[in-house]
Amino acid sequence: METATASPATLQLEQVSVRYGGVQALQDVSLRIAPGRVYGLIGPNGAGKSTTINVIAGFTQASSGRVRFQGSDIGAWAPHQRARAGLARTFQNLALFGSMTVRENVACGAAAAGSRCPASAREALVDAELQRFGLAAVQHEPMAVQSLGTRKRIELARALVGKPALLLLDEPAAGLSADEIRALSDAVRAVCRTGASVLLIEHDMELVMGLCEHLFVLDFGKLIAQGTPDAVRADAAVQAAYFGAADELC
Ligand SMILES: Nc1ncnc2c1ncn2[C@@H]1O[C@H](COP(=O)(O)OP(=O)(O)O)[C@@H](O)[C@H]1O
Ligand SMILES: [Mg+2]
Repeated sequence: METATASPATLQLEQVSVRYGGVQALQDVSLRIAPGRVYGLIGPNGAGKSTTINVIAGFTQASSGRVRFQGSDIGAWAPHQRARAGLARTFQNLALFGSMTVRENVACGAAAAGSRCPASAREALVDAELQRFGLAAVQHEPMAVQSLGTRKRIELARALVGKPALLLLDEPAAGLSADEIRALSDAVRAVCRTGASVLLIEHDMELVMGLCEHLFVLDFGKLIAQGTPDAVRADAAVQAAYFGAADELC
């Protein structure tokens, strides 16, 4: 995609490999994310999608290769250092604090963002995210009693409150209602309007095709295709990876 390569990269993976014991979860994956765009990361189960987000966010170390974020090689940085630099994520299996309130969970995102979210502005930023995701009414309730859909919205609010430069979303739509998916799409578009980028792993292909400008396709840990949704859909290697499931691309 010409425009994506013309602007300076927010994130670059260069020949990144990840090995878990005998499992090669990622093999020589190189990709580039420009500012202000929505990217999709798709592929069959076990393809290495979550591992890609983990290696970007610092929850997994690359066995080889480089992770560059806004010009810095962040490969040796801990997850909290990456969060302060502007990397935020959600988790495929949610990672919230059950004994804390909804508001306290969102406030954790503000604290994790460090100087990106100065103490004097934190309460207002937390209020804004609670409002945006329809969480104001439940903000003082414990997180543990909330529904799955609400928890997903809390995780999104926590990721966004620190105004990340890159938002990594691991299957955010799973378990959400149609209304909640619309709110998610609106939030993703709003993030991009601020110049931040989003990398979205999602099985809901309607959402992926509607939101993403550029797709990366993983299969068995390798990047087998990338490009616009239409180009990827027409790609022979992608069709082979999804053999027999042409209308169920993820
Ligand atoms: N912590 C881990 N330890 C061992 N193997 C793992 C670990 N995490 C993922 N894997 C393996 O790495 C491969 C890629 O997994 P993952 O990135 O979770 O795929 P996806 O998100 O595309 O479904 C799979 O074979 C998976 O079983
Ligand atoms: Mg996964």
